[in-house]
Amino acid sequence: MIKILVLLCIGRQLVQAVPLSPTEVEDFLIDPRYYSYDELTNAFRKLETENSQIAKLVSVGRSVKNRELWALHINANVHNRTLLTPMFKYVGNMHGDESIGRQLLIYLAEYLILNYGKVERVTQLVNDTDIFLMPSMNPDGYESSQEGLCESKPRYVGRENENSVDLNRDFPDQFEPHRAGTILSGRQPETVAMMTWIISRPFVLSGNLHGGAVVASYPYDDSNAGVQCCRESKSPDNEIFKQLALVYSDRHSIMKTGKACKNDNFPQGITNGAYWYEVRGGMQDFNYVKSNCFEVTFELSCCKYPPAQTLPQEWATNKESLLSFMEAVHWGVKGLVMNEHGDPVLDADVVVKGIDHNITTSNRCEFWRLLLPGKYSIYASAFGYSPSDTVEVEVAPGKTTIQNFTIKLETQQGNELRTNNGAIGGDRWYWGA
Ligand SMILES: *[C@@H]1O[C@H](CO)[C@@H](O)[C@H](O)[C@H]1NC(C)=O
Ligand SMILES: *[C@@H]1O[C@H](CO)[C@@H](O)[C@H](O)[C@H]1NC(C)=O
Ligand SMILES: *[C@@H]1O[C@H](CO)[C@@H](O)[C@H](O)[C@H]1NC(C)=O
Ligand SMILES: *[C@@H]1O[C@H](CO)[C@@H](O)[C@H](O)[C@H]1NC(C)=O
Ligand SMILES: [Zn+2]
Repeated sequence: MIKILVLLCIGRQLVQAVPLSPTEVEDFLIDPRYYSYDELTNAFRKLETENSQIAKLVSVGRSVKNRELWALHINANVHNRTLLTPMFKYVGNMHGDESIGRQLLIYLAEYLILNYGKVERVTQLVNDTDIFLMPSMNPDGYESSQEGLCESKPRYVGRENENSVDLNRDFPDQFEPHRAGTILSGRQPETVAMMTWIISRPFVLSGNLHGGAVVASYPYDDSNAGVQCCRESKSPDNEIFKQLALVYSDRHSIMKTGKACKNDNFPQGITNGAYWYEVRGGMQDFNYVKSNCFEVTFELSCCKYPPAQTLPQEWATNKESLLSFMEAVHWGVKGLVMNEHGDPVLDADVVVKGIDHNITTSNRCEFWRLLLPGKYSIYASAFGYSPSDTVEVEVAPGKTTIQNFTIKLETQQGNELRTNNGAIGGDRWYWGA
């Protein structure tokens, strides 16, 4: 009891330390508690019903026990994404007993909706960003977990899904030998739902919320070095991943110390995933390797499922990080790739010289290329077409550069291929809007 009172006091202080603007609403912090699956379902239904112009409830799939993987879609034009509006997602609670992120995403949904049209920053974010908030990717695990437990239960009940599978080890891995069957065979329903969502929609940036440590961890999580830890596994976008991780950590008063939990030592509160410890089959690497989406993992608390009294404090500590990381989806260059007649070219590669990782165009021929401020040489290319001219593009801090590319059909053969709806090349993914 004494402990709880102390926590409450600390919570108050921190909440007060970040003054709200006069119009800002955070009523959801009153009487803090974790929402069960049913409460989450009702809360999101209510948000949708009462704010149908900017909020839409979507189910990405179902868990083993048939619970919906709910995501709340928030945007000023939620029923018809405006061309070139980038898609962003937060996914929480894939380990069902890591609960802070789950409740913070419910708060974030309420915060964005309640403050739309009141707080300029929120209005702009919701106007310009296609936001998806999924509080729980493992609703079955959550229902088997217990508030107040800082560590996982025996046999990882709650952390894993209902079939005792760790969902963050169940994704295809770039360093794993190919399994028999299709890329989806033998995987859990939650994993299949997420894979399908990730590869069929043009997400640009994503945060994956966990608990049990306090750090921002960026790709790669895996390597082919055959070691458990302590060796970096860098992706071609290592520099921007570091900065994206820092966006979160810098604004989180505890994470940025890098020493929040016992034995933690993360300079600036960030780490390369594999340097910390190798994860094979994780969702973060899958996003980057198999889609256009860049994902960073945020570990939010030493205690996996702390008492609900800590939630207002956690909201105050994470709010600025959560918002700023979403805003980072606007870093870099975006535009359209068209042929010489102005027709969209989907599944075109957008190539940044010096970074060995392409972005491909959506079925509305849009691309978004996350980049740090600087000068880049960029061109577009598609099967059957001659590459576009290479353009020198300047990226300035805090602002999106718009750059279109025009490419020309190469040959008669290219003409036939073009009608093949972008599903060329066999192992390429098709991008839905
Ligand atoms: C979506 O908006 C575009 C214009 O931005 C319009 O051309 C299109 O018809 C709209 N689609 C639907 C389904 O409303
Ligand atoms: C948001 O969009 C609305 C409707 O288009 C517009 O009136 C408002 O000025 C925009 N506000 C910001 C901050 O972008
Ligand atoms: C990127 O696209 C270019 C042009 O299509 C291609 O030559 C290159 O191999 C691609 N790079 C990667 C890493 O896929
Ligand atoms: C990009 O192309 C679109 C569609 O043709 C056009 O509306 C837009 O003005 C172009 N933007 C730039 C910066 O060229
Ligand atoms: Zn976790």
